[in-house]
Parts: sequence; C-alpha cells; structure tokens
Amino acid sequence: MTETKHHRKIQSFVKRSGRLSKGQSLGLNELWSDYGINIASSTLDFEEIFSNHNDVTLEVGFGNGDSLLEMAIEQPYQNFLGIEVYEAGVGRLVNEASKKSISNLRVIKEDAVEVLENNIPNKSISNFQLFFPDPWHKKRHHKRRIVQKSFFRSAIQKTKR
Ligand SMILES: C[S@@+](CC[C@H](N)C(=O)[O-])C[C@H]1O[C@@H](n2cnc3c(N)ncnc32)[C@H](O)[C@@H]1O
Repeated sequence: MTETKHHRKIQSFVKRSGRLSKGQSLGLNELWSDYGINIASSTLDFEEIFSNHNDVTLEVGFGNGDSLLEMAIEQPYQNFLGIEVYEAGVGRLVNEASKKSISNLRVIKEDAVEVLENNIPNKSISNFQLFFPDPWHKKRHHKRRIVQKSFFRSAIQKTKR
C-alpha cells in the first residue's frame, strides 16, 4: 500500500462549529461588510480601511471579542484590527460593534499566522496584542502553539519600532 503524504500545515486552532445565535449570524452576514475584511492576496492598506492615519492595534485570537470591543470604545482615536477564526466570536464582535456604531474596529476571519505573513505590511502595527493563547498543554500538542519563534519574528517585523 502506498502511503499518501499529507502536507497540511499544523494549525494553532481547531475550528469549533455549532449553532450560531441570531446576533452572531447577523454579524457574519448582514453586518459583515461594515466591519469584516475579506482577505485577497494583497497587502492591507490601513489608511484606506480606516479612512484615517491613526495608529493600529492588532489583536490575534480575540475569542468572543468583549475586551477588544471595550478597548475600541474607550480609545476612539486608535484603530483596532482583530483576527480570529472562531466564527461565533467574530459574529458576536461585529454585531456588538454595530450596536455601538463604532468605526475604529475591523475584523478578519482567517488564520492569523497566514494573514501576518501575507497581508499585514511591515512596520504598520503600533500595538500587538495576544491574550491567553494556546490551550495546548499536552506535550504532543506543543507544536500547535501559536507562540513560537517564527510567530514572534513575524510580529516584530510587522510592528513599528
Ligand atoms: C484560548 S483562546 C483565548 C481567547 C481570548 N484571547 C481570551 O483571552 O479570552 C485562543 C483563541 O485564539 C484563537 N486562535 C488560535 N490560533 C489562531 C490563529 N492562528 N488565527 C486566528 N485565531 C486563532 C482561537 O480561535 C481562540 O479563540
């Protein structure tokens, strides 16, 4: 029997599925164009995205987005970009942001490792946030951790010094 080689990249997350609430689904659909950025192959232009020159804070893996929303409300002259793959969390954040009519927040629903590598310009981020990442305690899962040298290198490259 020939062995098929799998080249799937190891990811730092497991896609959780399940029913979405009305608000979460609203955030992922009807309200998406107000806050969501659909990634093409191009580099993001933050001045165009936010229509201003304000500093950008990037948060990777914002979960349900509550703390990111609070920061965006409290600091209206700072732009916030959240990257998260957890659909319910992304939907919830967009829905809540829309309720508060804030304009300094955008979200990307993709693997942050890829987005950092392919779409975020070098030296474009003022603050880089990563809270409570990696629920990977078992040794055999350590390779899944997002906090790795290559991720730090990437984060440093994207951050303004
Ligand atoms: C342990 S949770 C922490 C959530 C939140 N920061 C908090 O403190 O409550 C880690 C989160 O990171 C997200 N995540 C992990 N790897 C990711 C990646 N490569 N790209 C985007 N999100 C990722 C997961 O979906 C999950 O929601």
